[in-house]
Amino acid sequence: MKEIYRGKAKTLYEGEDGTCVMVFRDELTAGDGAKRAEKAGKGSINAEISAVFMQLLEKNGIKTHFISFEPPDRHVVKRLRILPVEVIVRNIATGSLVRRYPFKEGTRLEPPVVEFCLKSDEYHDPMVNEDIALALGLVDTPEELQEMRRISLKVNRVLSDFLREKGILLVDFKLEFGYDDEGNLLVGDEISPDTCRFWDADTGEVMDKDRFRRDMGSVIEYYREVKRRVCG
Ligand SMILES: Nc1ncnc2c1ncn2[C@@H]1O[C@H](COP(=O)(O)OP(=O)(O)OP(=O)(O)O)[C@@H](O)[C@H]1O
Ligand SMILES: [Mg+2]
Repeated sequence: MKEIYRGKAKTLYEGEDGTCVMVFRDELTAGDGAKRAEKAGKGSINAEISAVFMQLLEKNGIKTHFISFEPPDRHVVKRLRILPVEVIVRNIATGSLVRRYPFKEGTRLEPPVVEFCLKSDEYHDPMVNEDIALALGLVDTPEELQEMRRISLKVNRVLSDFLREKGILLVDFKLEFGYDDEGNLLVGDEISPDTCRFWDADTGEVMDKDRFRRDMGSVIEYYREVKRRVCG
C-alpha cells in the first residue's frame, strides 16, 4: 500500500477507488507531540472503539468517512479533503478551558460549549473565531462553520446518550471534518480515548488520554475498560 501520510498516531495509505486505509498505531503523544510513548495494544483498542462510534453516528443519520473496520487496527474510510479546523465540544469545564478562562474545574456547561481551533501543532491549535477562520481561508463561508457546529452538537447528543448507558460521562471531544468527492461534509478521523475525555459516571475516574498527559498511570488498562463498556 502506498503511504499518504504518517501522523502522530495513525498512518494513512491509499486504498481502492477513493478510499484510504487508516492504521491506528500504538504511539501516544501529548503536548502537540512533545511527549511520546508507545503502549502495546493502544492502536487496536482505539480502532475498535472508534469503529463502534462511527457506526453509531451513521445509524443516527450523521455522515462519516467510515466504510469498514478491518481488525485488529485499521479502518477503510472515504478519502476526504480534511479541513484545517478542529471542532471541540465541551460538556464539563476542564483542561485548557480552565487554564485559559475563569471556569471552575468540573463545572457543567449547559448548553455545551463549541470551540473551533486551527489544526496546527506549530501554533498549538489556537482557537479561531469566524473572522480568523475566513481570513486564513480555513473555510470559504461562515455557513460551513455553522454546519460543523450543528453536526458536532448532534454528535455530542448521540455519543453522550450512548455513553451514559455505559456508565461513562462524555466530558469533551474533538472532531475533524472533510469533504468527499461529491462535496458532502463528513465527520473524519477518529473518536477514541485519544480524542475524547471520558470520566467514570460513578467514581469520576479519568478513562482517557489525560492519564498519559498527567502521568496518572494504567493508561492501557483504562482504554481497555472503555473498550469493554463501549464494544461489549
Ligand atoms: N478520511 C480521511 N481522509 C484523509 N485524511 C484523513 C481522513 N481522516 C483523517 N485524516 C487525517 O489523517 C491524519 C491522521 O493521522 P494522525 O491522527 O496521526 O495525525 P496527527 O498527528 O494528529 O496530525 P494532524 O495534525 O495532521 O492531525 C490526520 O492528519 C487527519 O486529519
Ligand atoms: Mg490526529
